[in-house]
Amino acid sequence: MGRGDEDRFDRQLEALGIRVRDADAFKVRDDVFDEVTLLALYRLIHKKRLSAIGGPISTGKEANVYRGEAGDRAVAVKIYRIQTANFNAMSVYLQGDRRFASVRRTRKEVIFTWTRKEFANLKRAHDAGLPVPEPLSFDRNILLMGFLGEDERPYPRLKEAEMVDPAATYARVVEFVRRLYREARLVHADLSEFNILLGDEVYVIDMGQSVTPDHPQALRFLMRDIRNVNRFFGERCPVRSEFEIFAETTGIPLEEVLAGERER
Ligand SMILES: Nc1ncnc2c1ncn2[C@@H]1O[C@H](COP(=O)(O)OP(=O)(O)OP(=O)(O)O)[C@@H](O)[C@H]1O
Ligand SMILES: [Mg+2]
Repeated sequence: MGRGDEDRFDRQLEALGIRVRDADAFKVRDDVFDEVTLLALYRLIHKKRLSAIGGPISTGKEANVYRGEAGDRAVAVKIYRIQTANFNAMSVYLQGDRRFASVRRTRKEVIFTWTRKEFANLKRAHDAGLPVPEPLSFDRNILLMGFLGEDERPYPRLKEAEMVDPAATYARVVEFVRRLYREARLVHADLSEFNILLGDEVYVIDMGQSVTPDHPQALRFLMRDIRNVNRFFGERCPVRSEFEIFAETTGIPLEEVLAGERER
């Protein structure tokens, strides 16, 4: 996007009544802010769910995350990229999930459903009292959630955070996995040091791909989550057996889990 395009873009936003804070930090907008996204932003502003959008916190493969404001509350604005999101992978996660059984043909439909699914997953987890961002609203490919951070700075990801007490953090993460399964009835399905934020509490984010236990792949995803967590913490503190955690989480007797493992 050239300078002239950016100016035009700012005028477009202004015409829609979208206040752009921090304009210089706000560079990553080329392929994100297509017309669909602009319209969704506009609707969120109109519904007073969002009052300003600021600089990017993260520009990922599937989504970009921006700082935002809703009145005097700091929010995170996650915008799924319609053109570049891996919607084939998304479809696989959606297919087995009864909550999202409706027909989805186009790229856009898949991404809108994905956004709605992340909102629903965060809500289930948040309602169960788990440490995830509070889901606030969504429209099309945009999800609004509570900002996890201090002042303007998001909490660091576990990957780059300085852990004072790895064993205690590990125990919190294992507890999260168990409570997510037992109390919110979800498997995260992309749990790793990239999707855990370390702040006043150990927070888990990024739940678009999370599935209910009746998803045909749920147990496989659960084991993969547990292995990821053990791999990361295994280099930093003593970790428990993955089978034991799996059994404790699912309620499947340990002997059965181990027997199943021997058969494979
Ligand atoms: N609620 C939040 N508060 C503060 N920072 C956040 C919040 N949600 C996300 N972030 C920041 O944005 C980054 C990317 O968020 P997230 O993991 O949800 O998206 P992603 O990995 O790009 O998504 P995907 O893997 O679906 O493409 C996080 O690592 C974190 O730094
Ligand atoms: Mg992520």
